[in-house]
Amino acid sequence: MAVITEIEDLKRIYQRRVPRMFYDYCESGSWSEQTFRENSSDFDQIYLRQRVAVDMAGRSTATQMIGQDVAMPVALAPVGLTGMQHADGEIKAARAASDFGVPYCLSTMSICSIEDVAENTDNPFWMQVYTLKDDDFMQRLFDRAKDAKCSAAVITVDLQLLGQRHKDLKNGLSAPPKLTPKSVANMMTKAQWGLGMLGTKRRFFGNIVGHAKGVTDASSLTTWTAESFDQSLNWDRIREFRKMWDGPLIIKGIIDPRDALEACNVGADAIVVSNHGGRQLDGALSSIRALEPIMDAVGDRIEVHLDSGVRSGQDVLKATALGAKGCWIGRAYIYGLGAMGQAGVTKALELMHKELDTSMALCGHRDINTVDRDILMVPRGFAGDWV
Ligand code: GLV
Repeated sequence: MAVITEIEDLKRIYQRRVPRMFYDYCESGSWSEQTFRENSSDFDQIYLRQRVAVDMAGRSTATQMIGQDVAMPVALAPVGLTGMQHADGEIKAARAASDFGVPYCLSTMSICSIEDVAENTDNPFWMQVYTLKDDDFMQRLFDRAKDAKCSAAVITVDLQLLGQRHKDLKNGLSAPPKLTPKSVANMMTKAQWGLGMLGTKRRFFGNIVGHAKGVTDASSLTTWTAESFDQSLNWDRIREFRKMWDGPLIIKGIIDPRDALEACNVGADAIVVSNHGGRQLDGALSSIRALEPIMDAVGDRIEVHLDSGVRSGQDVLKATALGAKGCWIGRAYIYGLGAMGQAGVTKALELMHKELDTSMALCGHRDINTVDRDILMVPRGFAGDWV
């Protein structure tokens, strides 16, 4: 097998091994995909300051996210349909994260259920919840997360309705996949994936099927979103969700400083600066551009994390230097999972850790907690002067 030295290597293997429908689901943004692309390319506009002849021995990337110890400031983001990328994908990813010492966040739209992941892993994970109309379902989701000993709840606030992803509509994305001549022909070329799927019972949306009232077709994200998501969501309703969960709370999906301030007022412990991986509002600012104005607005009032576009340890270092206490990765670990299961997620984390550790050292730091904006050269106007 080819030597794997970068996340892109995992992506190439992933693309060969996983059916097109699920590869496309992961690897797309909404509409023209401008925001999806810029989430990553905007990181490249920020430069790192190289320092030399600084003692680099005895380094550490260990820090804390929402008060929890982490081996590096990285968490595995909630990704819908993870169990379609690889059999039992959520359990595999959660185990890899736990072994590495970083948080794993389970999606409401997972294939393995909350209870299933809890039974099959040793460490607490975080639970992501969408904002749905059905209050009973919401309360039950928080209660189930509590019973499963989840150590944080994450409310996604940027998906009241679904941004259109052309490829998903054209592919007829669903879980389990609908059998059409085209999808069957494609799946026949993915033997390893197929064997894995034949060997597991986990092929439906485990948190929803049998739990949500009045949902006629929970196999399709598009149908379920249209039927169940709360388009009339407002900050008062988010305050109600705060009351349903008494543990640490993270609000994910903030791009505007005004929304960040609102999130401070509902009593959240952290926010995630995120445009949902460029999958919702196409044309929105990349997360890395949005980060600094949000940091300026919230100051010390709340812990700030970032996702969308993070594909390397250098990206993590840049976001950290701009003030993020942690970066969430989605696609970067899904590539590993689809390529090689649990070992692939571990590989993705190892690659990122090495990139982070080495780049931090070459910027003259031994401890991730001392990294600050001084290591960066950011182009004038990168995060401001918008009219
Ligand atoms: C769901 O959150 C998605 O982006 O597909």
